[in-house]
Amino acid sequence: MVIMIAANIKIRPARNEDIESLTGLLEELFTIEADFSPDTSRQSAGLRLLLQKRDAVILVAESGGKVVGMCTIQVVISTAEGGLSGVLEDMIVARDARRQGIGRALLQAAESWAEERGLTRLQLLAESENEAALAFYFKMGWQGTGLVCRRKFLSGPRHS
Ligand SMILES: CC(C)(COP(=O)(O)OP(=O)(O)OC[C@H]1O[C@@H](n2cnc3c(N)ncnc32)[C@H](O)[C@@H]1OP(=O)(O)O)[C@@H](O)C(=O)NCCC(=O)NCCS
Repeated sequence: MVIMIAANIKIRPARNEDIESLTGLLEELFTIEADFSPDTSRQSAGLRLLLQKRDAVILVAESGGKVVGMCTIQVVISTAEGGLSGVLEDMIVARDARRQGIGRALLQAAESWAEERGLTRLQLLAESENEAALAFYFKMGWQGTGLVCRRKFLSGPRHS
């Protein structure tokens, strides 16, 4: 899947050689989001795992040969839908590339990827205070929900 959105801007699946650029974007994202902290080695490890998974994708926005945006989708089973749904995460466009339609194109590509695989719903988590992101998702047709997120870290090598 490669989608051209302008002469020099395209959306495509990520490759191994994108990991360094993507880690830079995630560093910016996890600096914005209070629930997370940037950690290059963890982000690289997570990206490498995503690249190996058949039912997941990292979508990259490339402008003039430079990676300027990304999002990821992972497939899960929804008993509510009785089928496959997708978790969209890691949505970010580099600061100097915003408001040019790149976020829109990433979400449209995410929807196409999901629909091609028979997914009936996508969902995401956003910070309640991230008004720019919430306005963006609203504009893109994503509905609000009454759900809130809870998490629990488990003992293990990464979080013990
Ligand atoms: C949210 C984000 C991904 C949007 O990406 P983008 O490339 O700037 O979005 P687009 O240019 O495709 O915008 C699509 C529409 O969304 C709306 N929108 C985008 N950014 C907006 C903002 N800051 N405030 C209000 N509406 C916004 C606009 O209506 C826009 O259409 P318009 O430009 O014709 O008015 C980008 O601002 C970003 O990376 N933010 C920091 C990371 C982040 O918060 N990620 C979300 C984590 S949940």
